[in-house]
Amino acid sequence: MTSTTPQNAPFGSILTDVMAIAWFHRGEWRPHTLKAVGPIEIHPAAHALHYGSECFEGFKAYKWADGSVHVFRMDRHIERLRQSARALVLPEPDAGQVAQMVTEVIDRCRSAVPDAPGALYLRPLLFGTMANIGAASTPTDEACLVVLASPVWDYFAGGARPLRIYLEEHATRCASRLGVVKTGGNYAAALGPTLAARAQHKADQVLFCPGGEVQETGAANFLAIRDGEILTRGLDSTFLHGVTRDSLLRMAPDLGFKVDERIFTIAELLAWVTTGEAALSGTAAVLSGVGTLIRGREEFRVGSGAIGPNTQTLRAALLAIQHGTAPDRHGWLTRV
Ligand SMILES: Cc1ncc(COP(=O)(O)O)c(C=O)c1O
Repeated sequence: MTSTTPQNAPFGSILTDVMAIAWFHRGEWRPHTLKAVGPIEIHPAAHALHYGSECFEGFKAYKWADGSVHVFRMDRHIERLRQSARALVLPEPDAGQVAQMVTEVIDRCRSAVPDAPGALYLRPLLFGTMANIGAASTPTDEACLVVLASPVWDYFAGGARPLRIYLEEHATRCASRLGVVKTGGNYAAALGPTLAARAQHKADQVLFCPGGEVQETGAANFLAIRDGEILTRGLDSTFLHGVTRDSLLRMAPDLGFKVDERIFTIAELLAWVTTGEAALSGTAAVLSGVGTLIRGREEFRVGSGAIGPNTQTLRAALLAIQHGTAPDRHGWLTRV
């Protein structure tokens, strides 16, 4: 697998040749090894398969024009993995070991890191392997940690086009206190509403708004944007605290945007988009502009219906830091 990977391959569908793997056994994390990507043996009674003790992360390494490779906010993502592990009572991985696993995988796959605008997507995965089907109320005492890597380009098929987003007022994405945890069950729970919105409304994604309050989509945070202002939900346990969201909000003042973090409703959002913009933020989505909001059978154009100018400014500013064409003033990049 090399950098000749077709750029139109679906996001995440191609893996590099090498992964890192470590096992938690008898109360401690054992040294990791690098091995060829392929099946691993786990017991069919493994805790993760029955009781959902699983969490993961997703972040990117970028190849700069000079050929050097830089990981974006690796420490923050590793900290979020550890936080997810704690929430699910999984053995907490050592931050230094995860960073080492990521670094070694990138080092072995260096030739597979795509040039800009591509990136190498890193996927640490942690799951409980204790073999016991009676352990619904018992935490796993064995676990596995894997780091996979995938060369990626656009997340949304069709590249940068304004997205169609369905406003879901009834179904929740997950149990409210688990929103902040990056665990597989949340994604499985979002799948039904997302597929229904795709089939019925040709929606790209669902924006979960239980009780009329705007939360996030199935795999990205949600920002309402207009000249000089960004509105997004304030941090609480109902949604994933995106590293991209945090980065954009921290860059915002320098780019002339004031940030408003609070609860807001669908009614307020629909008023906002008559002239304003809306976008999804995430490692995969970067900052993807929304062109249409769909509520029930009704469609609402967002601004002009095209990707908004403020969305483009913010997206370009973030990508410039990631690709090394603007200075990394916040110290977000780790050279590997
Ligand atoms: C549910 C959900 N919300 C938000 C995000 C954005 O998070 P980040 O910016 O850290 O990638 C993601 C992507 O990881 C996600 O899966």
